[in-house]
Amino acid sequence: MIKIVSICGSLRRNSFNKKLLEAIEQESKGKWDMTLAAIDNLPLFNEDLEMGGDPEEVTVFKKKLADADAILIVTPEYNSGIPGGLKNALDWASRPVKSSAFSNRPVAIAGATPGSAGTALSQMQLRQILVAMNANVLSGPKVLVGEVHKKLEADTKQINDLRTLDHLQSFIHSFTDFVEMYKKAE
Ligand SMILES: Cc1cc2nc3c(=O)[nH]c(=O)nc-3n(C[C@H](O)[C@H](O)[C@H](O)COP(=O)(O)O)c2cc1C
Repeated sequence: MIKIVSICGSLRRNSFNKKLLEAIEQESKGKWDMTLAAIDNLPLFNEDLEMGGDPEEVTVFKKKLADADAILIVTPEYNSGIPGGLKNALDWASRPVKSSAFSNRPVAIAGATPGSAGTALSQMQLRQILVAMNANVLSGPKVLVGEVHKKLEADTKQINDLRTLDHLQSFIHSFTDFVEMYKKAE
């Protein structure tokens, strides 16, 4: 089993991105052991605060990232970019620069939106940020779930669109291979 820690860029209770995360968890059963690293309790990043030592919530967050084999970020797109809460979490996680929880780590990204472009712009921005953090981001297959509200089961509101679930299988397969490569190199 591969240990995957996930981060969800949406803080919303009924978030479509949380549904996507649940679908990935369901589809990866038996391959991935997934845990969520919450970002909604992190203070706003401030170097003054950091200078006094990481706040407890930040320490817990960073430890969760460090304890996993790989990191999965599932995020909405806000104004053609990533949500502020996610950027805040990444800024905390990026420090100290040389030994950050993202440096040289395998990372995958995914996103869902009721819009048609499937969070393509926020993922492009997220890739750029992760490269700056020296993370190794899976190139593809990309998980861009557009019109997600049309892909849910009526009662449970779980993603039940067969093409999407099939695509998630390819994604899980590719990221598993990518992470295994790292584990072998260790
Ligand atoms: C501040 C804000 C900006 C948004 N900008 C975009 C956008 O640029 N592209 C897009 O596809 N959807 C945009 N949306 C719509 C979100 O995709 C939609 O609210 C979605 O449900 C958020 O993800 P969640 O369901 O996981 O919370 C925006 C929503 C908010 C609140």
